[in-house]
Amino acid sequence: MFSYRHVFHIGNLADVLKHSTLVACVKHLLLKEKPFMVLDTHAGAGKYSTTDPLGRNKMEWQSGLGKLVTIMEKKNYLPSIIYDYLKLVIIHNNGNQIKNIPGSPALASMLLRKNDRLWAFELHPSEFMNLEKNFSGSNKKVILEKSDGFISYRKLLPPISRRGLIFIDPSYENRNDYEKTFFYVKEGLKKFETGIFVIWLPNIQRYEVKKTLGKLKNLKIKNFYHVRVQFKKNKSNSLGLLGSNLVIINPPFGIEPKLDEVSSFMENTAELHE
Ligand SMILES: C[S@@+](CC[C@H](N)C(=O)[O-])C[C@H]1O[C@@H](n2cnc3c(N)ncnc32)[C@H](O)[C@@H]1O
Repeated sequence: MFSYRHVFHIGNLADVLKHSTLVACVKHLLLKEKPFMVLDTHAGAGKYSTTDPLGRNKMEWQSGLGKLVTIMEKKNYLPSIIYDYLKLVIIHNNGNQIKNIPGSPALASMLLRKNDRLWAFELHPSEFMNLEKNFSGSNKKVILEKSDGFISYRKLLPPISRRGLIFIDPSYENRNDYEKTFFYVKEGLKKFETGIFVIWLPNIQRYEVKKTLGKLKNLKIKNFYHVRVQFKKNKSNSLGLLGSNLVIINPPFGIEPKLDEVSSFMENTAELHE
């Protein structure tokens, strides 16, 4: 686990998919006045600079977020969920020049109202320091905790308002993360069965992915959505990351067709594969 740094991957298509989904789910929770809680079990550093010396030439955002900003500038078609996410990135940058990319905690915190809360958990010592630095001076709406997010998030369930979103985004560098994801989702649901759980898994040729998806499906939850997106074309035999799997338990009303649209947009837009 301790060699993973999200700075390399921030803004790639996998991130765009999960961050657009996060924004759409939080926007859904904003439709009612009752406050809500967002629990980000694997928060990362929160925000990332596109000139971070650690990333140097290895950052992936130009092939994802960067291309989408260009599509937006040309006023070409974008699915509404991606458009809403890009608008937040542009607000974060005070314009279309992408110098900073918000991670999941920054995106969620941008949308919170006075009584909504975000808990962000991060275990990596230096990544947690970055998270603290990035949120220093931020108000009490955001609570940061250096701990194992898999274990810690459940202590906050159910939220008093019974409204909440759990965003589970491990790096899966450690193969145990697959088993833990399933186990801690199952346990979390026992305490908060109506919560919105957004779970990211890589689309990769690995037995653990198939097994985890199968076990999540076998929970037989009435409101269950799964989308598999393949960013890389004609690479079905590749051992690398092909794309993303995204599972939503208790998906907000109307989000499924919008995410299906995002999936076919990402798979079929030529500019994203050049
Ligand atoms: C994929 S990154 C998270 C990216 C972030 N959610 C975002 O979208 O901006 C996964 C993060 O989880 C951290 N991590 C790994 N295991 C953890 C655990 N058990 N609890 C909390 N954080 C953990 C890693 O250090 C890494 O920063």
